[in-house]
Amino acid sequence: MLAANAPARLVRAHNGILPSARFLAQYDSWLAQAPEDYCDLALGNPQSMPLAGFVDALTKAVTPKDKNWFAYKKNEPYSRDVIQADLRNVTGRHFDPEDIFLTNGATGALMVTLNSLVGAGDEVIYISPHWFFYEGMILNSGGTAVCVKANPESFNLDIDAIERAITMQTRAIIVNSPNNPTGRIYTPEQMKALSALLQASSRKFGRPIHLISDEAYRTIIYDGGEFESPSNFYANSIVIYTYGKTLLTPGQRIGYIALSPEMDELAAMREVISTSQMLCGWAVSSALMQHSLGAIQSLSLDLHHLQEKRDRFVAGLRDCGYKTHTPEGAFYLTPKTPMADDVAFAERLATRGVFCLPGSVVGMPGHLRVSVTASDEMIERALPIFAEENNRCC
Ligand SMILES: Cc1ncc(COP(=O)(O)O)c(C=O)c1O
Repeated sequence: MLAANAPARLVRAHNGILPSARFLAQYDSWLAQAPEDYCDLALGNPQSMPLAGFVDALTKAVTPKDKNWFAYKKNEPYSRDVIQADLRNVTGRHFDPEDIFLTNGATGALMVTLNSLVGAGDEVIYISPHWFFYEGMILNSGGTAVCVKANPESFNLDIDAIERAITMQTRAIIVNSPNNPTGRIYTPEQMKALSALLQASSRKFGRPIHLISDEAYRTIIYDGGEFESPSNFYANSIVIYTYGKTLLTPGQRIGYIALSPEMDELAAMREVISTSQMLCGWAVSSALMQHSLGAIQSLSLDLHHLQEKRDRFVAGLRDCGYKTHTPEGAFYLTPKTPMADDVAFAERLATRGVFCLPGSVVGMPGHLRVSVTASDEMIERALPIFAEENNRCC
């Protein structure tokens, strides 16, 4: 009965349950039966204690300074100022504080943005391999999700394929750089090419196509690589950010939406985003997190250590026979599975206490997605199991 009443678009798309939701249920059951020494590589979750500075900041922020400390919060001016200064550092551009919206992580930011932009019949393009909730979020906002594959070798944007996917219904494109799961950072050349295409297509169809720039991992960059915000290349851009990755505290949700100052009809968009955010009360970041923001925004996980874990894990997987590339950014490795059925292979590993995301959930069938947020000990425990399971298949 519930399925019959569920949003028709979700039912039509996936018989009521998205592959990502199905996986998360599976993951919960793995955790429920996990041996004591399990290795959790499935999600970008912390596997060690939080940053001391983070805990201190929250501890200080919890003591009320006035009667409104825990009152309903909107986008508090002090939070907006912190983010405006950070955006100036990252982009070199001046964002108006009024165009910055504090959200419950990037999920809240994306949902508010899609709810604001998408109307009946609108299409939203996302690039695959992809973060596993884009499709569901687009469907949930009432739009049609259009998946465009990245180049399978380089994982770069396939501009010709994007051009073929754009129609007069295209309302927005989601670009995620550094990409989850591939780690690819799109170069300025690619962003210029995308921008030229979006400008030409917007002109052709007589309404702007918005670029939703999901920058969740913009600080997680290895080998001294560089990231330039896609929003620097296209006027009708919306920046999405979360502190959950940089601080490795994804459950203590805080993130934001920032509208590009150069956007067409900026004032109208500001109104719509603001209303949409308030209508989803859950999408406004909590009082505690907004009070903490000034202190936490400059903190970061230990990127050097993360890179060491990436290198150890890549080398270890290759030594035991897996083909895997070295990501430029983000949290994930994507080794090729020794059997075509990545779901079955993930299940085999799970029976031995090693939890990985099957690649087919993120547009990479025949691969796994494994997170380097794992502890050193987990990586060392998991590698011999990866080796044995590879040998069993070969
Ligand atoms: C690319 C990408 N976008 C958005 C999100 C959602 O971020 P949050 O956990 O802050 O809601 C994630 C989380 O994994 C992600 O990987």
